Order: sequence, then structure tokens, then C-alpha cells
Amino acid sequence: METMMNLITAEVTKVFVENGYDAGYGKVTLSNRPDLCEFQCNGAMAAAKEHKCAPFVIADKIAEGLKENPMFESVESVKPGFLNLKLAPEYLAGYVSGMKKDAGRFGCEKAKNPKTIIVDYGGPNVAKPLHVGHLRSAIIGESIKRIGRFMGHKVIGDVHLGDWGLQMGLVIVELKERRPELVYFDENYEGDYPKEPPFTLAELEEIYPAASAKSKTDEAYKQAALEATVEMQQGRRGYRAILGHLLAVSVPDLKRNYENLNVSFDLWKGESDARDYIPSMVQKLKDEGYAYMSEGALVVDVKEETDAKEIPPCIILKSDGASLYSTTDLATIVMRMEEYLPDRIIYLTDARQGMHFIQVFRCARKTGLAAPDTDLVHIIFGTMNGKDGKPFKTRDGGVMRLEALLSEINAEMLKKIKDNQNEKAQLDISDEEAEETAKIVALAALKYGDLSNQAGKDYIFDIDRFTSFEGNTGPYILYTIVRIKSILNKYVSGGDDLPENAALLAPRSVSEKELMLVLSRFNAMMENAYEENAPHKICAFIYELANAFNGFYHETKILAEPDEAVKASYIGLLMLTKDVLEACIDVLGFSAPERM
Ligand code: ARG
Repeated sequence: METMMNLITAEVTKVFVENGYDAGYGKVTLSNRPDLCEFQCNGAMAAAKEHKCAPFVIADKIAEGLKENPMFESVESVKPGFLNLKLAPEYLAGYVSGMKKDAGRFGCEKAKNPKTIIVDYGGPNVAKPLHVGHLRSAIIGESIKRIGRFMGHKVIGDVHLGDWGLQMGLVIVELKERRPELVYFDENYEGDYPKEPPFTLAELEEIYPAASAKSKTDEAYKQAALEATVEMQQGRRGYRAILGHLLAVSVPDLKRNYENLNVSFDLWKGESDARDYIPSMVQKLKDEGYAYMSEGALVVDVKEETDAKEIPPCIILKSDGASLYSTTDLATIVMRMEEYLPDRIIYLTDARQGMHFIQVFRCARKTGLAAPDTDLVHIIFGTMNGKDGKPFKTRDGGVMRLEALLSEINAEMLKKIKDNQNEKAQLDISDEEAEETAKIVALAALKYGDLSNQAGKDYIFDIDRFTSFEGNTGPYILYTIVRIKSILNKYVSGGDDLPENAALLAPRSVSEKELMLVLSRFNAMMENAYEENAPHKICAFIYELANAFNGFYHETKILAEPDEAVKASYIGLLMLTKDVLEACIDVLGFSAPERM
């Protein structure tokens, strides 16, 4: 369906043109004075300048030309020359009925030319436990992926594990200290390596932090880890076997953690998957004269004349021959070009990696590793802070494990849900159901709390606020959905069938009209959220929609409505509201329970 704004603009434009004015003046926007009108057009003001006359003269003419138009309930010319528009209730009901018939899409058309888009998100490092720093990448990335899919694009999510860097060398060295007898360290060994990993997940979770701490005080130890990293990268068999074990032990745990977040990836590739692309890439960069030696390292210049700040060269190989984060990212671009020829690659990391991606993108562009029409996009997100405004930590100041964070929110949510049930005397809800519900709502609290902020900004993780049933929160949105579900259930148990295809009647109250007006913005909102990679716009929309629904609900006797046709129309409107809310939370990456 065409967006409402375009439909209105088209009508207004027609009248501008009929009166001899430029079509561009017909542009309509949402009203910034909702107390006066629903939409407005300021084109007469601009047209007056061109035609050297008083703006209201033009506005009057346009209003006159729109007077009989059935799209509008009222068209007013207001001095000095604004056009204030209100939609005809019948017209609005017709549009919203069209959305309802368009099941699952609600008037939002899929892209005519679907793009292939890779979303590189999550980005956990094997051997290190998932911590809250990786949370935003997962939450925002998952939503970006789902928004793209909703819009009809082919979107591939890749977790891009960190598995080629120093943390590998650290684990190898620490393991060697503890168990030098292991066959992985015997350079002359030529047989097969054991299938059983030499560590459990719990051991691994202890090995890495221990090694990392040692490397900070013990220079020789750190040196050994750096060497082990290069040896692993260059193919030392025993070390590659350890890498294999690391992945085998870490990945199932990561999967489980992401599952709890309702986050899933199509590809479980890592930095290490790009290894075979590195030698030929390096050769190409050298042969084509892009890469040169500087202070022992192989680099490509990426600065540009217009740079306001210094952009250092992109390092391709370190002086010891080790590949770096930029090396695997470039080689991964080569791999992705070869395997998918994507129209776009989107990366999600925190702001500290801004420079890294500037360098990598410029290098990939300049050297032709990325096709000229492949967009490379870095979505930067801010920090999740604690109430003290500093990066979120555990109570004793450590890095918060993701699992710990989740169980804290779950517990808080369970408490709130039980309180709520006691209040409403819903005694039939079992502990299991309460726990299941708490998990669903907790995830909404967490994800909505994150996604409702513009990604680039820092935000404060405030468990009390996020889990509240009131205000701009995930639980409030779910509460609204659950409220609608319960009304629909009552309607059905009263013996009526849900009006699946019936058209909606014209709104009979201001609050009903407001609800329809908000609904009618769905398609434009979704397109915009996709264009701007902006899940927060979906959050803002559903918050407004939930408010509009609750306004209508509090003012309207829905089930007690005596006129059956009116009642059925209300129910139809509720169904659409629920379906739109659920479609939105689905692209945000969470769901609603049956009751709460
Ligand atoms: N593993 C990285 C980190 O923990 C994030 C990876 C982001 N993706 C990428 N292609 N560089 O910081």
C-alpha cells in the first residue's frame, strides 16, 4: 500500500498544480499542532515567495480546491498561509481496513529489488565468556537483521567469532604451562590429535583470565603468547588442533547464551575462516602497489585529503608476520565477496572500533577488495552504563557475565509478575507458567530498554525502570498486547467469531480515530526504520500505538457495546492493533506471553 502521507500529498499536489503552482509545494507532513489538525501543508508559504503574493491567497485557493475531496473531513487555510488537514473518518477506516486485509504485511510492501545484506554482529571472542559488552551488538544486530528480512531482503547474519588473535596464544601458552606433556606441544608429533578436548568449558573460563592476568605482569609470558599466536596463524598443527578444541567447547555455550537472548545466526564463521584468503590478498596488495613496509609492518595508506583528523595507515601484517584484526576483517571481506557478492555488509560494534572500520573500509574500497557498489556500513553503539553513569559492572566492580545479568532481570521480573498476579488474584497461574512468563517479559524488558535508545548513544541500564509495567518499557508494550488478547478471548468465549475479513467502520470517537491514525503510519515507519537502521523508531512507534490503544480502551466500552456491528468493528481494530504490535516486537527480537 502507498503510505498515507504519499496519498494525502498526491491529493494536495493535484490542487497546487491545477492552480498553476509547482508540484513540489504539495508536500504534506504530520501536524506539529495535533490539537489543531492531523496533517499540514506549508507549501503555500514557499509558493508565495515565488509568486510574490500573500501566502494565504494561495492557501485559500488550495483549501477551496480540496473542500469537496472525500479524503478530508476538514481543510482549513490558516493565516499567514498554512493548510490544516483532518482526514475523513470513512477514508481513514478504509485505509486501516486495507491494512487488516493485508495479513502479515499491514500495508508494508516488500522491496522490489531485494538486496543481499550480511549483518556481522555478536562478535564474541572464543575462550572468553560472553559479557555485557557483547550484549548490544547481539540485540541491535538481531533487530537490524529482522528489519531487513521484514522488508523482503536476503539478510545473512554472521556471528564473526574472534578466534584468530592473542587470546588464542594466551590459552595455548597457559595450557602448555599447566600440561606440557600434552601431545599438542610436541613439534615432532605427526599422528592424529585426540578427539576429546584437553579442557572443559569451566576450565577454559578459568584459563583465559588467568593467562590474560599473567601476561600483564610477565613480559616473557606475553612474548610467548604472541609467538604462539603467530605459530597458530601460520599453521602449526598442534596449535590448530587446540583452536579446534576451543571452538568445539566454546561454540555450543555461545549458542546456548544467544538462544536465551532469542538471537540466532545463519553463519557461525570466525576470523579464522578467512585465513586461507590472507596470503593471496597480501600478495595482491603488494603486487598492485598498495601495500608497503613501514617500520617493519606492511601497511596501506588510507588517509584522504579532506580528512579533518589524522587517519593512520591500515596495518596488513605486523613485523613478526602476524595478522591483525584488520587483516582478518579485510580477508573476510574478500571471502564474503566471493561467497555472497553482498550489496551491503553491516558491522555492529561499540564506538571504540570507529577508527578500525574507517581504515578497513577505506582500504577495501581503495584496493578493490570490496566491489565499488557494495556498501560497507559500521553501526556504532554507545555504552551500556550502570546507574552511576559508568560502564555496567558487577557489584564488586568486575565485568558482568551475560548469564548473570539475565538471571538478575529474570528474578526481578518474576517478582513483579507474582505481585501483579496477587493483586489481580490470578491464582490459577502455576509457578512454571509464572517463570516462563517472567523469562519472556524479562527479555522484552532488556531488549526494549536497549533498543528504544538511539543505538549511537550511551544509556543507563536501570533494572527497576526497564522492568516496570508502566512507561516507555518492554513490559508495558507486552502488557498492552496481553490486554488485547484477553479481550479477544472474552469475545470469542461469548460465542462470537473473530471478524477476520470484515471492514472496519468509521471511527466514532477521537480516541478511536487517534488509534487508527497511529496504525496508518506503520508502513512508512517500517520503511524508515530499515533505511536508517533504526530499531528505536519501531520502539517509539509501538509506544505511541500502545498509548493510543490504551486511550481508546479506557474510553470505550468494547465488549459491552450493544450494536453488534460496532462491536465487531472494535474487535477488528483490536486484532489489527495486536497483530501490528506483535509484528513490531518480532522484528525487535522478542515476543509476548499469553497472560502476565
Ligand atoms: N570480536 C570483536 C570484539 O570483541 C568484534 C567483532 C566485530 N566484527 C568484525 N568483523 N570486526 O571486539
